[in-house]
Amino acid sequence: MITSPSTIEPRHFRDVMGHLPTGVVVVAGRRRTGEPAGLVVGTFQSLSLDPPLVSFSVALTSSSWPKIRPAGRFSASVLAAGQEDVCRALSSKREDKFSAVDWHESPHGTPRISGAHAWIDCETRHELDGGDHVIVIARVRHLEAGDGDPLVFHRGRLGEIRS
Ligand SMILES: Cc1cc2nc3c(=O)[nH]c(=O)nc-3n(C[C@H](O)[C@H](O)[C@H](O)COP(=O)(O)O)c2cc1C
Repeated sequence: MITSPSTIEPRHFRDVMGHLPTGVVVVAGRRRTGEPAGLVVGTFQSLSLDPPLVSFSVALTSSSWPKIRPAGRFSASVLAAGQEDVCRALSSKREDKFSAVDWHESPHGTPRISGAHAWIDCETRHELDGGDHVIVIARVRHLEAGDGDPLVFHRGRLGEIRS
């Protein structure tokens, strides 16, 4: 059945869009104090090859993004199969969520999740209106692939695909 836009319930929207599998990515940077801050996003994607750009969207209610954004740089860590605990820790609202995960510093001084499937170090370029989210567009400064398989989010569950 085709529904008109005015009748789309947020829950139905989430249920249907949850059929689109996504990667699980930690966006992390440094607060003004130097401490790490970050959150999990499923909206991270490649945007442009030349110049090399990526994008993701972050909820206006995020408490971590306002801590990361002043520095203008962050690392995106693509979580690997087996990193479900990292996903749970960093998608929580805990103040000290980085104390529960292994991380190290990127060449840009931003926090990378250890053992991730890939790392992309970025500088924020634009923030656009995205309804109840902000669309962040960032320039890639450095990137590296890790080992293993990715962690995947599909229909509200974390899972794995084998390459
Ligand atoms: C698999 C997965 C994907 C998510 N994708 C996003 C996303 O794209 N954007 C977003 O703002 N929050 C997303 N979230 C939710 C945030 O990780 C979560 O709201 C987190 O608590 C935000 O914390 P903060 O208040 O510390 O920023 C996702 C969570 C999970 C588990």
